[in-house]
Amino acid sequence: MSRPHSTSSPEPPAPGPWWRDAVFYQIYPRSFADADGDGIGDLAGIRDRLGYIELLGADAIWLNPVMRSPMADHGYDVSDPRDIDPLFGDLDDFDELVREAHARWIRVVMDLVPNHTSSAHPWFAAALAAPPGSRERARYHFRDGRGPDGDEPPNNWPSIFGGPAWTHITDPDPNGQQHQGRPGQQHQGRPGQQHQGRPGQWYLHLFAPEQPDLNWGNEEVFDDLERTLRFWLDRGVDGFRIDVAHGMAKPDGLPDHDGWQSNKLLSHFDTDPRFNDPNVHDIHRRIRKIFDEYPHAVAIGEIWVHDPQRFAEYLRPDELHLGFDFHLALTGWDATAIRAAIDGSLAAVAPVQGTPTWTLSNHDVSREVTRFGGGPIGIARARAMILVELALPGAVFVYNGAELGLADVDLPDEALQDPVWTRSGHTDRGRDGCRVPLPWQGDRPPFGFTAATQGWLPQPESWAALTAERQLEDVTSMLSLYRSALELRRRRPELSGGIDWYGSPPGCLAFRRHGGLTCALNTTAVPVPLPPGAVLLASTPGVDTQLPPNSAVWLL
Ligand code: BGC
Repeated sequence: MSRPHSTSSPEPPAPGPWWRDAVFYQIYPRSFADADGDGIGDLAGIRDRLGYIELLGADAIWLNPVMRSPMADHGYDVSDPRDIDPLFGDLDDFDELVREAHARWIRVVMDLVPNHTSSAHPWFAAALAAPPGSRERARYHFRDGRGPDGDEPPNNWPSIFGGPAWTHITDPDPNGQQHQGRPGQQHQGRPGQQHQGRPGQWYLHLFAPEQPDLNWGNEEVFDDLERTLRFWLDRGVDGFRIDVAHGMAKPDGLPDHDGWQSNKLLSHFDTDPRFNDPNVHDIHRRIRKIFDEYPHAVAIGEIWVHDPQRFAEYLRPDELHLGFDFHLALTGWDATAIRAAIDGSLAAVAPVQGTPTWTLSNHDVSREVTRFGGGPIGIARARAMILVELALPGAVFVYNGAELGLADVDLPDEALQDPVWTRSGHTDRGRDGCRVPLPWQGDRPPFGFTAATQGWLPQPESWAALTAERQLEDVTSMLSLYRSALELRRRRPELSGGIDWYGSPPGCLAFRRHGGLTCALNTTAVPVPLPPGAVLLASTPGVDTQLPPNSAVWLL
């Protein structure tokens, strides 16, 4: 591996892009490690734990948003994209983190949120204060309402977080007096509701009202994103994960849509007009031109598109380098479904000879231990799946806490903070359960996460058995399995080349890397004979001639 780019030590020419087979460790900064004792993780906390990430063996970290934000969606509502939120530290902390990460040969990838801003962004404040048709409003999607009084939303789109995708505002008084409402607390577009004050336009927000969608038909929007990209890339950042990368362009006229099939967070259908408009590709081509001036940097799109041909379009040579693939993150414990998911992911990059990516979980979906049944069985299955995932060709994303075998936490109502909880009228508990702060050490919460009495979400007592400290000392732990697998993946030439599927008993799968490694998985409740080969690593101790239930093995 060539040394990561850093402003202090420029990168020497590398034989191939570093990201092609990299393991990215996803850090949810609020929940990783808190150095200043306010109960919320921060950049200094991450810096303090870089040794852990090095020990784990990750090639890069991807940080969920750390830019300035009122935190209505925990950082995905950015009010200043070229500054660090004081909750996490400041620009000096960030520079120091990049420097120290690079000194350990760990690359740093940031989250970029181009689809929307925060409603606290100066642009949006200016838009609210400006009249309809103004330059300020043209940076967002403002429209008149429908119905005789303009009292109905401009179209029938729902917000991904629940409720309508439009919020009704009060336009400024042409006589000079401004009625500037507070997004999220305004008329929510229920037809027939009476207004207080002067009826005004509506603005579009595919997510929360505090996240107004930008109008990507407006040149100022791209120019500002370019400034943001250069701002961080010039500081030595190694790339960006681009949030809602399939959502920036909107269809002309913002038409109504018939037959909404799924409005579940991030599992919408390809026919959904809110996403995947063909004009989005021009935006990616323009973004890529900037990346090409920073050849060390990677652009990774969050692309919730199911059709492989349409997914592949995002990875054409002049668009994104990598696309997040969620096949495995949405698959349950079923060998046929897992094999189909792997084939689906490979098919999604094949048309453009792109690099496959693999992820079992992230900050938006259930943790794999929970998805696979929870308890000891969920852990056994998650252990098996990480061996499957790390045996595959391409880039792998590991969500912080997966390496400790954490499950989703069943949080009390009063602890929930995800906007999904309130926006859904308390019918969807949202994503907090997979975002609980990590347990580092000790016997009781907050397990070294913070010096405060507890972290921003409460950790369960049972995590005493899962602390990083405990698992580092235990060769049979999930953490030790991750470390061994990552080490082998990095060093063994057998983990190279494409894959061929092997015949396998029902409920099992087996594939072989062209480099020579075989990976076999048993999802059944009974042991099955091992394929030929010597065991290199197994998810269950004592594998010899049989592969136990809920297990995977690497063979040479
Ligand atoms: C992010 C979510 C976020 C949403 C809105 C997603 O794709 O991963 O966490 O709520 O974008 O920015």
